[in-house]
Amino acid sequence: MIIGVPKEIKDNEARVGVTPAGVNALKEAGHTVLVETQAGAQSGFPDEEYQNAGAEMVGDAGYVWGKSEIVVKVKEPIESEYAYFREGLVLFTYLHLAPLPALTNKLLEAKIIGIAYETVRDRRGTLPLLMPMSEVAGRMSVQVGASYLEKERGGRGILLGGVPGVPPAHVVILGGGVVGSNAARIALGLGAKTTLIDVNLNRLRELDDIFNGRLYTLASNRYNIAQTAREADLVIGGVLIPGATAPRLVTREMVAHMKKGAVIVDVAIDQGGCVETARPTSHSHPSYNVDGVVHYCVTNMPGAVPHTSTLALTNATFSYVLRLAGLGAREALRQDAGLAEGLNTWLGTLTHGGVADSQQRAWTPAASVLG
Ligand SMILES: NC(=O)c1ccc[n+]([C@@H]2O[C@H](COP(=O)([O-])OP(=O)(O)OC[C@H]3O[C@@H](n4cnc5c(N)ncnc54)[C@H](O)[C@@H]3O)[C@@H](O)[C@H]2O)c1
Repeated sequence: MIIGVPKEIKDNEARVGVTPAGVNALKEAGHTVLVETQAGAQSGFPDEEYQNAGAEMVGDAGYVWGKSEIVVKVKEPIESEYAYFREGLVLFTYLHLAPLPALTNKLLEAKIIGIAYETVRDRRGTLPLLMPMSEVAGRMSVQVGASYLEKERGGRGILLGGVPGVPPAHVVILGGGVVGSNAARIALGLGAKTTLIDVNLNRLRELDDIFNGRLYTLASNRYNIAQTAREADLVIGGVLIPGATAPRLVTREMVAHMKKGAVIVDVAIDQGGCVETARPTSHSHPSYNVDGVVHYCVTNMPGAVPHTSTLALTNATFSYVLRLAGLGAREALRQDAGLAEGLNTWLGTLTHGGVADSQQRAWTPAASVLG
């Protein structure tokens, strides 16, 4: 099988779909890997490493797309890449098709086999190819928050862990899923007083156990959120109601009552944010101030640490790439119902109910098209 790894060209995207280690494993399995020159450079993987691992380096993106049977990417294709689409090509990447009817049409017209990272499920029903990015964002949220708490960056001038004789900062985390629990790990590690709020009491029990009582847990309700927001130095938003916009748990009024120079990192901003005053920001302009409270609401936080993010992502995606290459798409999808949930388009047919619902169009379940 010929596997292609183009360089990502979406604005500010520095990750890459396959690392040199991945190339090595694919080569050992007897496949050919075409990597576009400089594809991994911004993630810390120079062309030389790919070459040493056995990749064929190609200067022309069109050639990579044109010769490959499977293209492994990170982000959804942008318009200038549509010209490379052709019938039967397997595209394995984040697609996020629900809000993108134009891309959906192009994939269907070109009869692409589109498998989206974000809808692949594992045996436990979780989303294994989304989880690594939540891990990165969760851990990063405390690091970013600690930095914005410094005076220079508009914060209260507080050291997260305090020092002997001076109390630590109070970190309040909304949501105890992947983002929240990873944020809690770092906040506690840095010595902050850490409170985590979730609606799921069983999850709070689990976290209480995992963190051995060092984490304060609270049931999610308006009263508890208002009170902890007032006391917080750093609020981290990590709630998710799958498929829905995030609930606005911290209201404008609560923000107005927060300490001046406190910091909000709303990780859930990609689902609309769980803080009423949050609006999406980018790495070039990451923060702004409302009522003296610093807001950091970057929608693609893992993009700031592409080396870690590429490794975390490819650790999770790679076994699927190997199976798709080894068995061919149809057989790999037939053998793994969770991977088949990742199938969004199959040779001109839309095969994902969620995408179909949000675009109000017809669809056919993956199992029917795979035969
Ligand atoms: N900004 C970024 O770069 C970035 C990166 C990764 C993930 N995210 C986003 O972070 C958010 C969280 O992701 P996750 O993987 O941790 O999700 P998750 O499903 O693992 O966890 C979400 C948690 O929120 C809790 N929750 C739901 N409603 C709540 C409420 N009313 N009060 C308190 N808790 C509530 C759930 O019980 C669950 O424990 C998602 O929106 C995700 O897309 C953003």
